[in-house]
This record gives sequence, structure tokens and C-alpha cells, in this order.
Amino acid sequence: MKFPVSSQQLTQVLAPVMAAVLLGLAANASAAVDVDAANGVLKKNNCTKCHSVDKDKSGPSFKKTAEALKGKPDAEAKLHKHLTTGPMVKVDGAEEKHKVIVATDAELKNVIEYILSR
Ligand code: HEC
Repeated sequence: MKFPVSSQQLTQVLAPVMAAVLLGLAANASAAVDVDAANGVLKKNNCTKCHSVDKDKSGPSFKKTAEALKGKPDAEAKLHKHLTTGPMVKVDGAEEKHKVIVATDAELKNVIEYILSR
């Protein structure tokens, strides 16, 4: 390429670069946790009655859960099972079935990633 380059030549060189950058941004955005969506699902399911991000209520804080599962390869699977099978838990001393979440697969995945990233 000779200098000075025309603006058309510049566009030809830069277009693929810009496309790659935009694609990268889009991929990043879809991998990120949707905090608002997660909070909506947690509220609708009354999870917030027993859980908060950083305070223990009847259930452990999400920070505590994230801390305990950090770096474990089966962390997502563990929470998926916990939230879909209703295991027995102790709520203020009394045994009861844990709430089974009502959510789409995508919403549940987002909620799990939200909890694990607190
Ligand atoms: C009636 C109170 C109550 C409600 C409602 C409730 N939980 Fe829990 N949750 C608990 C208790 C108690 C535990 C502790 C279980 C244990 O450690 O044995 C727990 C544990 C958890 C854990 C940690 C699991 C683990 O393996 O470490 C997560 C995550 C969780 N709950 C998420 C949720 C979500 C999401 C909802 C809403 C769909 C929800 N909880 C609704 C009481 C509740």
C-alpha cells in the first residue's frame, strides 16, 4: 500500500478489524450476568425472604455460597440440583423442603451465575 492512502483503502483495511471488535463485544455481553433479570427471578420466587447477597437470613448469604463453591468444577451443577430438586434443609431449626425455583432454563442459568459471582 502506497501513502497517502485513500479513505476507501482505509475502510477496506479497517472494516474487518471493526467487525471483529464488535463481535467480541457482543460475545462478552452475552456471557455476562444479567443482574436485573436475576433479581427479578429471585424476587418472584420469594428467595429474598430467606437470602440476601451479603447478610445471612434463614438461609446463607449468596456471598457465603459463592465463597464456599469458588473454583469448584461442579459448583453450577450443585446449585442447579439444589434449586430444582427441593432437598430437605433446616429453616430456623425446622426441617422443610427447600423451595424449587420456577424459571426457564436460561433464567435459572443466569441466577446460578449471578449467585456464584457475588
Ligand atoms: C424458607 C427459606 C428459604 C427460601 C424461600 C429459599 N431458601 Fe435457599 N436456602 C435456605 C436454607 C435454610 C439453606 C441452607 C441449606 C443448608 O445449608 O443445608 C438454603 C440454601 C440455599 C443455597 C446454597 C446451596 C448450597 O448448596 O450451598 C442457595 C444457592 C439457595 N438456597 C438459593 C435459593 C434460591 C435461588 C431461592 C428461591 C428460588 C431460595 N434459596 C429460597 C432457605 C431458603
